[in-house]
Amino acid sequence: MTQEKLASPADQPAVDRAATWTRRHLLDVDDFTTAELDTVMDTTDAMKEVMGRDVPRVPALRGKTIVTLFYEASTRTRASFELAGKALGADVINISAGGSSIEKGESLIDTVRTLQAVGADLLVMRHSASGAPYLVARHLKAAVINAGDGWHAHPTQALLDLYTIRAHLGEVRGRRIVIVGDIAHSRVARSNIWALSTMGAEVIVCAPPTLLPAGLRPSSADHGPGPEGDATEPLAMPPVHVDANLDRAVEGADVVMTLRLQKERMQGGLLPSVREYATLYQLNEERMSRARTGALVMHPGPMNEGIEISPALVSSLQSVIEEQVTNGVAVRMAVLYLLARGGK
Ligand code: CP
Repeated sequence: MTQEKLASPADQPAVDRAATWTRRHLLDVDDFTTAELDTVMDTTDAMKEVMGRDVPRVPALRGKTIVTLFYEASTRTRASFELAGKALGADVINISAGGSSIEKGESLIDTVRTLQAVGADLLVMRHSASGAPYLVARHLKAAVINAGDGWHAHPTQALLDLYTIRAHLGEVRGRRIVIVGDIAHSRVARSNIWALSTMGAEVIVCAPPTLLPAGLRPSSADHGPGPEGDATEPLAMPPVHVDANLDRAVEGADVVMTLRLQKERMQGGLLPSVREYATLYQLNEERMSRARTGALVMHPGPMNEGIEISPALVSSLQSVIEEQVTNGVAVRMAVLYLLARGGK
């Protein structure tokens, strides 16, 4: 976005920071620096200001074409990327695997090359295979944005979660943030662990041992190390605390983020029963009473209400779940804008 396209003086810090941006693709946040995360956050502030205008439009991406390519279902991510692109003046085309030539057997690489050939400048893609956006990025001149790949990463979800936390708590450094649920199958958890750790938060993951990635598995089958216990440093992941006991993990938390139980990704036998899971791991008002007063309740969606979270907590004053969704538009505007500048 050039300076003349940002009308408000309040946008100037974002313009200054955006000038330092060098990335061409957004594949994950695992190698982001604090400065890069700050750049996305500041640019999102500017986009929130745009969204608050009577006519929430700027011509920053006029003449650019964004294609969203989804091999997996989505409501929030896909809708917010489309709204974000349109708010920036881009043309947006949405492609789903169903109804496209993918159904005729066209390969991933042929599909994305075709989309580039029709004019895509930015490709937003979701795929069930971890690493698919990395493969695509090697074949395209267009900027590639990972909108979720398998169990691996969901960088824009982590960015919108970080933005939402900062909006409420200010400084993230030193905050106690609990991520509870199906960590093993969660790209959201993985990207959040990276982004929150980079910003200096104390991250606690909580799940039954069978729903933890191997590198994070607690040493005891009954409960992992307590809040004061050993930090576990799994391969290629930042250190996090692991606690299998939700009541204990939530003690003193500033934020509790609960995840969807991903029944579609589970091979049988990981849980004795969904009912037992709900008994031990459902986030509810009684459990949240152990957290700090005013602690935030988050969920990336979609939710299984009554399983990983109680309906009462979803609609409580502590819940920022809808705000996460709303912030997703401004965060994705920021990401599109920064990448459209064309980095290395
Ligand atoms: N949180 C998230 O990725 O939601 P969708 O699957 O609806 O995009």
